[in-house]
Amino acid sequence: MDSSKQGLSANEQIKSRERVSAHGEVYTAEREINAMLDLVKHETERIDSRFLEPACGNGNFLSNILNRKLAVVNRLYAKNKTLWQYNSLIAIGSIYGIEILHDNVLECRDRLYNQFYDTYKKRFSKSIDAEFCQSIRYVIDKNIVWGDALTYKQPDSEIPIVFAEWSALGNMKVKRRDFSLSNILLLQETKSEGHFSDLFSSTTDDVGVHVPLVEFSPVHYLKIHTL
Ligand SMILES: C[S@@+](CC[C@H](N)C(=O)[O-])C[C@H]1O[C@@H](n2cnc3c(N)ncnc32)[C@H](O)[C@@H]1O
Repeated sequence: MDSSKQGLSANEQIKSRERVSAHGEVYTAEREINAMLDLVKHETERIDSRFLEPACGNGNFLSNILNRKLAVVNRLYAKNKTLWQYNSLIAIGSIYGIEILHDNVLECRDRLYNQFYDTYKKRFSKSIDAEFCQSIRYVIDKNIVWGDALTYKQPDSEIPIVFAEWSALGNMKVKRRDFSLSNILLLQETKSEGHFSDLFSSTTDDVGVHVPLVEFSPVHYLKIHTL
């Protein structure tokens, strides 16, 4: 089964009445998702353009965005495995989600990973790199966060939601910096009067800068899973 098509069809947009009334869990149908993403088509096709879905469910929007980005990676880097791997990792590293229901978080992570793996296997079936797959899984697990998008914390807890920023440095290296969601959003709102611009803008201005909670030394992209 094509894992990009996993999840609920247009006729299966709810899992249970209880979940709808407790959490508003009604999934968006693929046609609407495509229409909405087409409004920002250019960004969905930019490998490193960052997306955050604050109530991502099992990943209907994120999966579609990943599809679009991987299509670009396939088009540009089909013949060069290293560049394909590096760029697909940057693509995956740019996709973020928050979800309050833990089973949805696990489903979403698996779905994005399987979708990546299917695409990778189709392209490089004879030379799958286990360490690369481990690093992809590591990034997905960090980026799809179990949390409450209203409190910016883990559900029923004081533990803040933290996101990792993955930046391509060239030379096949990646730099990770961790930021609290509240810090990212506070600065975004102040700077853009309620509209979000780049998720992790590092611009310095009179409003302030994004201060990372942790900053890691640059690592080769295959070694991300060791961070
Ligand atoms: C209407 S569904 C949309 C799911 C997905 N975005 C889609 O369009 O198919 C809303 C999702 O938000 C989750 N949710 C509800 N309240 C939330 C909160 N405070 N923080 C994070 N997720 C929340 C629900 O569990 C549910 O999966």
